[in-house]
Amino acid sequence: MGLALSARLFAQHEKEDEAAKHPFMGDAARIEAGRKTYLGGCAGCHGPEGGGGRGPSLIERGVWHPMTDANLYTTIQKGVGIMPAANLPEDKGWELAAFVRSLTSPAVDVKAPGDASAGEQVFWGTAGCSSCHRIGGKGGFAGPDLSRIGRTSTLPKLRRSIVNPDYERTPGFEAAKMTLRDGSKLAGLVKDRTNYTVQVQLKDGTLRSIPVEKIESMEIVKPTTMPLDYKARLSAADITNLVSYLRLQGEK
Ligand code: HEC
Ligand code: HEC
Repeated sequence: MGLALSARLFAQHEKEDEAAKHPFMGDAARIEAGRKTYLGGCAGCHGPEGGGGRGPSLIERGVWHPMTDANLYTTIQKGVGIMPAANLPEDKGWELAAFVRSLTSPAVDVKAPGDASAGEQVFWGTAGCSSCHRIGGKGGFAGPDLSRIGRTSTLPKLRRSIVNPDYERTPGFEAAKMTLRDGSKLAGLVKDRTNYTVQVQLKDGTLRSIPVEKIESMEIVKPTTMPLDYKARLSAADITNLVSYLRLQGEK
């Protein structure tokens, strides 16, 4: 009975959250409309992807995420500091707020364009993503497990991870070669480094902790093994479909 009660309270809580949320939030068409307005009137100061410039980054979560939808809307419409007031019709203002919010919302919470099942086929097939990434216990080990990536990433970050992996890195995937003082050689991914040990993951997935005094030399061969040419290799539709598939990982 206790369980039923708390389930009901939880449902009620969720409903309140929904009510506080403006209906444009997470709506793909409104976000896209907001993005267009953004490119015209805001990108000059906040950067084309929201990464900042004259104005602060709108991607870095910590800074402004605690803002309620209403605060975000008011900041945009009325301006703040040197930021001019946008003074747009209400709908346009909310579209902008929905776009700015989408820059930091977990990807699962934002409806994205594209065909997730087509993206699934690209992921497990032609693009070879699954040779390095795991989802739901299947796939390779060379890259991060993506089973919950829809919760831990945002839509723009998912897209950037595919087309521009250099933009921001997930630590723990530098490929290194080492020669040890006893003459043996090792190759693997550097998972962790302290002043005392380097933790390396070998090709077969096993982890080894190597005390630094045993290392003769170490060279980072590749800062990441994530291919850097997917933007050229995949079609725009493939990329949109991939994002739409990945955003659903972690939905439940
Ligand atoms: C002239 C440059 C400029 C333009 C144009 C501009 N901003 Fe800003 N924006 C800023 C600056 C600077 C701040 C920080 C103001 C402060 O805190 O004093 C800011 C703050 C913000 C914040 C709050 C961020 C925070 O950390 O609290 C949001 C959200 C925002 N801008 C969105 C937008 C949107 C959407 C547009 C387009 C309608 C826009 N801005 C246009 C310069 C600009
Ligand atoms: C040869 C191995 C390899 C292949 C193939 C590969 N990746 Fe990656 N991927 C990596 C590595 C390593 C990282 C982590 C290092 C980094 O961020 O650069 C990564 C990072 C990512 C991230 C960011 C993960 C996070 O935690 O934020 C995403 C998303 C991603 N890859 C998606 C893909 C997709 C989609 C494909 C296929 C189109 C693909 N990868 C193909 C190795 C690979």
